[in-house]
Amino acid sequence: MRAVTWQGKRNVSVEEVPDPRIEQPTDAIVKITSTNICGSDLHLYETLGPFMDRGDVLGHEPMGIVEEVGSEVGDLKVGDRVVLPFQISCGHCWMCSRGLYTQCETTQVRDQGSGAALFGYSKLYGQVAGGQAEYLRVPQAQFTHIKVPEGPADDRFVYLSDVLPTAWQAVAYADCPADGTLLVLGLGPIGDMACRIALHAEPGRKVIGVDLVPERLERARSRGVEVIDLSEHGDDLLEVVQGMTSGRGADAVIDAVGLDAHGSPSAKFAQTLAGLLPDAVAQPVFKTAGVDKLAAFYSAIELVRRGGTISLSGVYGGTADPLPMLTLFDKQIQLRMGQANVKRWVPDILPLLTDADPLGVDTFATHHLPLEEAPHAYEIFQKKQDGCVKVVLHP
Ligand SMILES: NC(=O)c1ccc[n+]([C@@H]2O[C@H](COP(=O)([O-])OP(=O)(O)OC[C@H]3O[C@@H](n4cnc5c(N)ncnc54)[C@H](O)[C@@H]3O)[C@@H](O)[C@H]2O)c1
Ligand SMILES: [Zn+2]
Ligand SMILES: [Zn+2]
Repeated sequence: MRAVTWQGKRNVSVEEVPDPRIEQPTDAIVKITSTNICGSDLHLYETLGPFMDRGDVLGHEPMGIVEEVGSEVGDLKVGDRVVLPFQISCGHCWMCSRGLYTQCETTQVRDQGSGAALFGYSKLYGQVAGGQAEYLRVPQAQFTHIKVPEGPADDRFVYLSDVLPTAWQAVAYADCPADGTLLVLGLGPIGDMACRIALHAEPGRKVIGVDLVPERLERARSRGVEVIDLSEHGDDLLEVVQGMTSGRGADAVIDAVGLDAHGSPSAKFAQTLAGLLPDAVAQPVFKTAGVDKLAAFYSAIELVRRGGTISLSGVYGGTADPLPMLTLFDKQIQLRMGQANVKRWVPDILPLLTDADPLGVDTFATHHLPLEEAPHAYEIFQKKQDGCVKVVLHP
């Protein structure tokens, strides 16, 4: 089959790879019809190379039709239309029974000290072949699927794999009062969708979005978000936000940027160094150094009001990142974070994927491209060219 493979820093290619096959009775094979590129894929493309091998198949936001099933996949049947959550979880362990699917004890990647295995997300998360491909092997398929109805086009449902539950969890964890101000850093797919969800939940709420890409700012503005252009307010962001929040700061801040934030020169050296070393040397360096570019997280700490909440959905990776503990403690900041527990939120989200499409999922993608054009798609998504905000690939 054809699949998008990682080949090196800023280098992906579409290659012929072996067809996946059923290996365990709990496996299913899904023929992929739509498969997105995520901001998380850009971390693999740019920074997390030491944890990738050439030829690794990328992708964790796929949907399609069940082609083949093992003998222990519950009620999943050949022909079912399914979205695949980005995490692989069993549905019955101690963590899964508490809705903490990203911590699944059946699939935890213990040799890396990581939580549940993820599709297409490096050795840190189990080096499982991803879904930017014609076919995908789905482990723990009895639980790792979301059945969706026939009828609407894929765009209606494909964001259930990641964008919708991630943005939903970000808003839930932010716990912003109904009459409060929510500030969202980063207006990529996750930040944009978080704004939409927050405004849908409380139409009168003040939602402020910060980014530096004109089309992304405009997309958010057109849906009722008050936007701040970081390229104009890099130096006086705090004053601008204070001016919009009675001098106190935002009640809650969502960081939807993560470890490749713009405007953080200091970690660039560690990231570059880790990228130049052989993997065996780079992995421990990466895991023990302060490698994250923390500009967005630092802004969140600054912009949240005293006693407010920071909800991190942006992915971070270092273990020795310098954090301003004095400020975090003194401001009494509450911090919540993590990969989204996808199926925890699906029952809340499905009622919004109706014909009225209140979250605008039908028109959320800016680009629909053939799988073969993945190298171009990664490039325009990373460089924010051609108005690219979200790409859906079609095998
Ligand atoms: N927690 C989860 O389960 C989960 C799931 C999906 C994605 N993510 C993470 O969420 C983050 C966002 O994902 P995305 O798909 O929207 O990615 P994206 O890269 O398209 O969006 C990031 C946005 O942040 C903006 N930005 C960069 N530096 C900034 C700064 N200092 N201040 C404000 N904005 C800044 C960029 O211009 C960009 O628009 C990524 O880190 C991704 O890995 C987490
Ligand atoms: Zn994703
Ligand atoms: Zn489990």
